[in-house]
Amino acid sequence: MQRRLEITEDGSHTIFLSDINEHYHSIHGAVQESNFIFIDSGLKYLNKTSENINILEIGFGTGLNALLSYYEAQKANNIINYFSIEPYPLEKEYFSKLNYPEFVDDKNATQVFNKMHNCDWDKLIKISETFYLKKIKGFIQNINLNNILFDVVFFDAFSPKVQPQLWTDIVFEKIFLLMKKNGVFITYSAKGSVKRNLKKVGFIIENIPGPPGKREITRAIKINL
Ligand SMILES: C[S@@+](CC[C@H](N)C(=O)[O-])C[C@H]1O[C@@H](n2cnc3c(N)ncnc32)[C@H](O)[C@@H]1O
Repeated sequence: MQRRLEITEDGSHTIFLSDINEHYHSIHGAVQESNFIFIDSGLKYLNKTSENINILEIGFGTGLNALLSYYEAQKANNIINYFSIEPYPLEKEYFSKLNYPEFVDDKNATQVFNKMHNCDWDKLIKISETFYLKKIKGFIQNINLNNILFDVVFFDAFSPKVQPQLWTDIVFEKIFLLMKKNGVFITYSAKGSVKRNLKKVGFIIENIPGPPGKREITRAIKINL
């Protein structure tokens, strides 16, 4: 697939895929969007008192959500185990140019970001004292994640228009079963069919305001065991 690096409105990069006419992030600001949706409305919403938080991400892509989560773990001094699924890893020529570390107020941000991209796939890697990463090379539909339950899920696949097969009750049920009670599922899509499929598998849905350029996003909570 043909990839192109672009600058979004907050000055942070994104990737554009011309073949499917889709950006990895909002053109109104990639860092702004990730912070608003995945960090503030997802990770920080989790009312968690224990020190260990397990996050599952669908779509590692540029690694932006992983970097921002590392920074939160660093500030809150809790430990994040971050599992991220990605079938099409970014080539070095792209990830080495991404300017995300400039947006993170941490002296180790560049080193951490490079380590996230350069580390092995399919192994749990210690990125820092507070952040462990397992990048899983594969498709959410096929991978097997037994023996681990997640507190937070970042559902950051391409849009339902481009990848309708990922926003189905089949995929959502698989994720539901991988989550802890009171776990938080967060995504940028507020499409009716997405919300209906989430409800169908047992999630409680909330429509919440989105970042600039996006009126609403969806948060889903697993209330039942
Ligand atoms: C909207 S991009 C976001 C990526 C990333 N979270 C970021 O901030 O850069 C969607 C990502 O989902 C990945 N993806 C595509 N199909 C997938 C699948 N079946 N399972 C998991 N991830 C998939 C894409 O390759 C892409 O990296």
